[in-house]
Amino acid sequence: MQKLVLPSQETLSLSRYPDRKNETLMPFDASDELVLSHFHENESSAQNVLVIEDNFGALSLGLKEITKSIFTDSFVSSKGILENCLSNKISAPKIINDLQNIDKEYDFVVIKLPKNMSYFEDLLITISRVCPIGTKIICAAMIKHLPTSAFTLLEKYIGPVTTSLAKKKARLLFSTIEKVPQELSSPYPIQVQMPGFSEKFSNHSNVFSREKLDQGSRFLLEHIPSRDYKNILDLGCGNGIIGIKAKMKNPDSHIHFADESFMAIKSAKENYQKYFSDEAFFHWTNCFENGEKNFFDLVLCNPPFHQNNTVGDFIAWQMFNDAAKVLKKGGQLRVIGNRHLGYHIKLARLFSKVDMVEGNKKFVIIDAFK
Ligand SMILES: C[S@@+](CC[C@H](N)C(=O)[O-])C[C@H]1O[C@@H](n2cnc3c(N)ncnc32)[C@H](O)[C@@H]1O
Repeated sequence: MQKLVLPSQETLSLSRYPDRKNETLMPFDASDELVLSHFHENESSAQNVLVIEDNFGALSLGLKEITKSIFTDSFVSSKGILENCLSNKISAPKIINDLQNIDKEYDFVVIKLPKNMSYFEDLLITISRVCPIGTKIICAAMIKHLPTSAFTLLEKYIGPVTTSLAKKKARLLFSTIEKVPQELSSPYPIQVQMPGFSEKFSNHSNVFSREKLDQGSRFLLEHIPSRDYKNILDLGCGNGIIGIKAKMKNPDSHIHFADESFMAIKSAKENYQKYFSDEAFFHWTNCFENGEKNFFDLVLCNPPFHQNNTVGDFIAWQMFNDAAKVLKKGGQLRVIGNRHLGYHIKLARLFSKVDMVEGNKKFVIIDAFK
């Protein structure tokens, strides 16, 4: 737990989600602090704020009197914000997770700049459609994560951009909606042809590798096993391509998809329905925490190595732990990873047997049996 001292001198206790022992990563950064001091010093008339992509609540709890809604695509952030509201005894504002549900007008929109500029574009199109002329937009970013395309997109969809002075390597971008709200329609979800698949994939703007097939996914797709699996989990499913291929190779099995991105789950659902008419199961969750124990015969996983701008193998490690819990005895986890990540060493700590299935210059595919 970390203390965040607000400009009013009030203190918030904030944790990341999940709240791990000996956590070294911070639940907030200098760009959050810059937003809070900006509001304290300059925006005393603000009343009706939409906060977008707040990581763990520094912005929405720090602006608790004026935050009316929060929008985030992330389950991890949604849960983290709710837990931090509880531990600080603050009643939670409304959290919206589907972009289509941003339908009210706000006088301020605060955006913690996401890493993915397609998603940022989709957010700006939505805001420019929903909010009236005069709505102020503030984007917060650490300078090392601030691409020039963020300026270009703000100018294209909102209006001219000014910036704050840099403080502790953070900066704010300011813009005000000055165009008549346009009947702009977002290009997302985009429809993408994937090699080896007859139907185009529907990819929402914050989905992993939304424009083309990732090299790791391509290699894993070539090695989807086929046996008498009853229940299969696509863990960290993105647009669902791995689980869909697993269903093609195991037509009698039931497929479950899990991801922490709401847009990933939405895409996976749309894509599954393009191919199959039976029921599949979709879990918007963190890794596979709280999943039913001893249930799955096969878990397929292409783990992420970052969550937004935070890089590390901590998510892969939790995915492996969760897979070990939800697999039946003898059940199989098939993982793809970059060669240098050494996943086999980690897996050997959790599973009774670990085998190398295949490798190329960049990737290895590993089986771990419970
Ligand atoms: C490398 S991508 C793989 C996507 C897809 N399976 C594929 O192969 O194209 C990793 C996926 O894990 C998801 N992810 C990241 N953190 C997660 C978490 N804490 N819990 C569940 N899913 C997570 C990401 O949203 C992303 O879709």
